[in-house]
Amino acid sequence: MDSNNAKSQLAEEFRVIKRPLVNNIQGAENNGINRSNLILICSSLPGEGKTFVSINLALSIANERDKSVLLIDADVEKPGVAKQLGIDNSRGLIEYLEDDRVTFSDILLKTDLPNLSIITAGKRHKYSTELLSSQRMYLFAEEVSRRYKDRIVIFDSPPLLVATQAQILAELVGQVVLVIAAEVTPQSVVNESVSKLSNCDVVMTLLNKTRKEIDIYGHNYSYGKYGHF
Ligand SMILES: Nc1ncnc2c1ncn2[C@@H]1O[C@H](COP(=O)(O)OP(=O)(O)OP(=O)(O)O)[C@@H](O)[C@H]1O
Ligand SMILES: [Mg+2]
Repeated sequence: MDSNNAKSQLAEEFRVIKRPLVNNIQGAENNGINRSNLILICSSLPGEGKTFVSINLALSIANERDKSVLLIDADVEKPGVAKQLGIDNSRGLIEYLEDDRVTFSDILLKTDLPNLSIITAGKRHKYSTELLSSQRMYLFAEEVSRRYKDRIVIFDSPPLLVATQAQILAELVGQVVLVIAAEVTPQSVVNESVSKLSNCDVVMTLLNKTRKEIDIYGHNYSYGKYGHF
């Protein structure tokens, strides 16, 4: 497969991933999902592809111009979004959470794509777990969900089984995507993650396979496979 074919295949894969998430947002009022436009991308363990999926899903939605996207790096321990996209990480979610004077627009970064904006994780903080479980974070999620009803908000997160932060974040969002490294992550580990997410309205699983490598913005990427419970 040449690079163009691989790219269009990747685009198609992410279109498939996107569809049920968007459908859930559209049907949210009927099926009672709160904050359905907030989507957390998590996984059990490090390196399963959360940041890869977060970025590609955001780009997929933004490129098709059907919706606006806000990509938030909520992996405040090991931020990957700013690094991958080559943007400044000096002021982000952490700065907003620790200082009432920092406003939403202070941390919102515009990109070359008119309907993609980004909030980076910001600097590392000793009490980042407390900040993520604070009332200010809850109000932030509420506000972002309500004020930007038409916007899809994607949160990249830390691994579920390594720290408590992802589980805290999962309570704030309407939909969770659990990325699973195919043929790597044992079933027992996946089960443990699923039980940690039992309070969430919607949990989709995404089997991430790295079958073919392609190149987008300078990194080697392949595509994921989608499935759900
Ligand atoms: N489908 C894929 N095809 C090709 N490469 C992939 C794919 N998924 C992930 N990768 C690569 O695997 C590595 C780990 O992925 P990524 O950083 O997205 O994982 P993560 O879950 O965010 O890890 P961490 O827990 O450390 O933040 C990266 O180099 C990424 O580019
Ligand atoms: Mg990551």
